[in-house]
Amino acid sequence: MNSENNGLINLQKTEESLYKRACEFLPGGTSRNVIFRKPHPHYVASASGCFVTDIHGIRRLDFENNIASLIHGHAHPVIVNAVCEQIKRGTAFTSGTEIEIQYAQLMCERAPGFEQIRFVNSGTEAVMAMIKTARAFTGKPKIAKAEGSYHGSYDYAEVSQNANPSNWGDINEPNRVPNVFGTPKGVLNDVIIFPFNEIEKTINILDKYCKDIACVIIDPLPHRIGMMRASPDYIEALYNWTRKNDALLVFDEVICFRTNYDGVQSIYNVKPDLTSLGKMIGGGFPIGAFAGRSDVMSVLDPRRGNLRFPLSGTFSANPVSMTAGKIAMEMFDREAVSKINRLAQVAIKQILEAAKIADIPLCIAGEGSMFRLHFMETPPRSYRESFADEKMKKVITMFLDHLYEKGVILVNSCSCMLSTVMTQTEIDMLADAMLSAFKHIRPNLDFKN
Ligand SMILES: Cc1ncc(COP(=O)(O)O)c(C=O)c1O
Repeated sequence: MNSENNGLINLQKTEESLYKRACEFLPGGTSRNVIFRKPHPHYVASASGCFVTDIHGIRRLDFENNIASLIHGHAHPVIVNAVCEQIKRGTAFTSGTEIEIQYAQLMCERAPGFEQIRFVNSGTEAVMAMIKTARAFTGKPKIAKAEGSYHGSYDYAEVSQNANPSNWGDINEPNRVPNVFGTPKGVLNDVIIFPFNEIEKTINILDKYCKDIACVIIDPLPHRIGMMRASPDYIEALYNWTRKNDALLVFDEVICFRTNYDGVQSIYNVKPDLTSLGKMIGGGFPIGAFAGRSDVMSVLDPRRGNLRFPLSGTFSANPVSMTAGKIAMEMFDREAVSKINRLAQVAIKQILEAAKIADIPLCIAGEGSMFRLHFMETPPRSYRESFADEKMKKVITMFLDHLYEKGVILVNSCSCMLSTVMTQTEIDMLADAMLSAFKHIRPNLDFKN
């Protein structure tokens, strides 16, 4: 008992001292706010398959998968071997590579709307370049986006991503809430905010600015809004509006492309003009891409006399990300997609059963191989309905911390991102840990009974 206690004290000290050192050199001790938690981030030593091992040698089952970027889990041997071979041949050149062309072909053959593709280095960059492409094509300055939707950290794309009850304003025309102190007024002036999945309200808002909108950007399965899917009617209304008003409809599928073989877009009757991609398409390495209509993408074509959008990037399409990404996507074939999606359905069923046993209110949103838990009796339909107040935030922290202690890691929004290396065994472990965590938070939940 004593030695166990001493062990724990020492472990705590190790993480504390690492964090103390980190704070000397990194603002807040981190390079990514998403990993920050109180009193300090967790520190990892290694990872393999579905498990992450921390610096103390404790293994945990990983449903975070670096925020949905590791579709085949950690250090998949096929990807690792191919990448090691590529690294020996060089990691970045100021020249083209054949692997870039092979990967571009693979992606364009994968989704019907992808006539051409451009690779960049992150989802943020993909969204930024996609918006600039839309502006360059239409010659218009404004973009329209849904309140609460997360599209990375480009100035325009991040407006209202963290709107809250104190600043979000009237739902009939939500405020444009800056995400970063010091955001120029000009940026806010050029971003129109609409409520997700609300046809009439959205169209009324768009109509007000119809002459100036270059694109309507939408994540059809928006993680931060609540992971509920945009209805086909809504997407069709946006599509029709953009046709009428010489604007583009652009999808952000940086996360949700994983839900079907050819993305969420495959379920709609209408197709976006452009789509941003990222995360899993890098096979564990930094990547972003945007793809779509070749006439629109031609604004990037350096052969054009009047080049509208010159775009370079030191590490764009580097052969390491291309190699890893291509293999990851080849392995994520139709069969792998169906298998992981079926496993997610099983997980959802087991988690809902656990919630019933623990007698807590729970709704699960999501699709394909990702889902998000909401501690509510009825499923939220909007960002405002799914918004967690301070009390709910505390419950969520308790829930996630308890799961972590039980050896399971979730995304901090209470979301699970499955990987193809998971099996029923890991789902059972998840459901068991959830049952324990549900019982743990139950006294802190408000519900009618
Ligand atoms: C829908 C969506 N778009 C864009 C991004 C930004 O991607 P990255 O973190 O690679 O810049 C994210 C990241 O979480 C995302 O979820």
